[in-house]
Amino acid sequence: MDGPDADDHSGWPVPTPPEVFVERRERLARLHPGPLLLAAGFSRTRNFPGNRYPYRAESHFLYLVGAGIEGAVLTLHDGEATLYVSPPDPEETLWTGPQASLDGIAEERGLEVRPLDALEPGDGVATVPPQDGDTAFWLSSLLDREIEAGGGDELTGADAALAGALVELRLRHDDAAVAQLRQAAAITRVAHLAGMRTTRAGVREAAVRGAMEGAILSSGMVTAYAPIVTTHGEILHAETYTNVLGSGDLVLADVGAETPEGWASDVTRTWPVSGRFSDTQRALYDIVLQAQHRAIQAIGPGRRFLDVHRAAGRAMVEGLVAVGILRGDVESLLARGAAALFFPHGIGHLLGLDVHDLEDLGDLAGYAPGRTRSSAPGDRTLRLDRDLEAGMVVTVEPGFYRVPGLLEGLEGSPLADAVDRRVLESYGDVRGIRIEDDVLVTPDGAELLTRDIPKDPEEIEALVGCRSA
Ligand code: GLY
Ligand code: MN
Ligand code: MN
Repeated sequence: MDGPDADDHSGWPVPTPPEVFVERRERLARLHPGPLLLAAGFSRTRNFPGNRYPYRAESHFLYLVGAGIEGAVLTLHDGEATLYVSPPDPEETLWTGPQASLDGIAEERGLEVRPLDALEPGDGVATVPPQDGDTAFWLSSLLDREIEAGGGDELTGADAALAGALVELRLRHDDAAVAQLRQAAAITRVAHLAGMRTTRAGVREAAVRGAMEGAILSSGMVTAYAPIVTTHGEILHAETYTNVLGSGDLVLADVGAETPEGWASDVTRTWPVSGRFSDTQRALYDIVLQAQHRAIQAIGPGRRFLDVHRAAGRAMVEGLVAVGILRGDVESLLARGAAALFFPHGIGHLLGLDVHDLEDLGDLAGYAPGRTRSSAPGDRTLRLDRDLEAGMVVTVEPGFYRVPGLLEGLEGSPLADAVDRRVLESYGDVRGIRIEDDVLVTPDGAELLTRDIPKDPEEIEALVGCRSA
């Protein structure tokens, strides 16, 4: 597809029509008829009160209102939605420029807007906790009960019921949400192409990150999470960008865009700095790609996500036995947990407004009632174990990582003889490979929302360092 160009901002990002939010609020009111209140939250202090992180509203608020209005509160009472907002402050406009009037917000958002100091929540109002301490403190005082920042995994009573309703609402995406996710995916493609083109030996990881973030920012979006751009892919959440790219290195880039309404993309690509995979890098890249292919094949309505995870683990073990890094019988290796030796995380998670969607509510969204996390290595970080349904969006992100800590101390364990160290050593130019895509479950199967972001190894080789591509 012809995705939007980084320099062509015309019409992007496209906002969601106001009636979508009316419908979402009506659905929530039906799912949770009792009174409820959801805070947008405040911006967070960075290093002193006047220097703050860019504001990002709570996702439940964004889902129902469509804009991050700092400090605002949405209430639903008997099906009536009201937005409470701080009126414009003339003292502040020197710094902020003109602020929207309450009438202006009402017209734009299509719901009743009242001043924040008119908010009288009354007793028995349900809410779910915000992520930041200042908002939690403010809500605790407003509701006269303790609201713990980030405490969404320990709710009881009406709050737990509201959390369940929000999961039911947000688990399967409506058309407007999918349209947002497609836009995030399209800009993420531009970012990954920019990263591949910028890559060459001698530049820092930071330069590749800068090119990728630049593409996202210049498209009117922001990054959905802290980007990982590293030659040390074995550090799963590497957050430094200081290494200089060597000609024999692989770059692992886990970078995704977020639309102004808050919808995320979450994509990883791995490419060779030189523009050519070595034979050893290519062999392991092909194993990860095959594992991803098998996992995606396992996605469809009614299919269990644990089986998607298992399909990837099996493909990884089969591939690693074929190249000789693992030795022994595939079934026996799987039974002994060998998949997690080089692929120590879950195959994916829900994606939506949050890059790990709804994880503010713990495992309520990710785990179907009656299912809980396994304690087995690799499986314990699986964030999703539901039977998939049309409208869900999940990531599929297998990887191969040579993590010294996981390979030490195997002596005496059931996996003591599973790894051929000599063969593994011959793959020493691979530290980490991950390939991650975003997948929409459809009534018939699955649609790869990020299919236009190159991952075919030869296509990638043609793009790396190629300024004119
Ligand atoms: N980028 C975070 C993740 O892949 O889950
Ligand atoms: Mn992910
Ligand atoms: Mn990711």
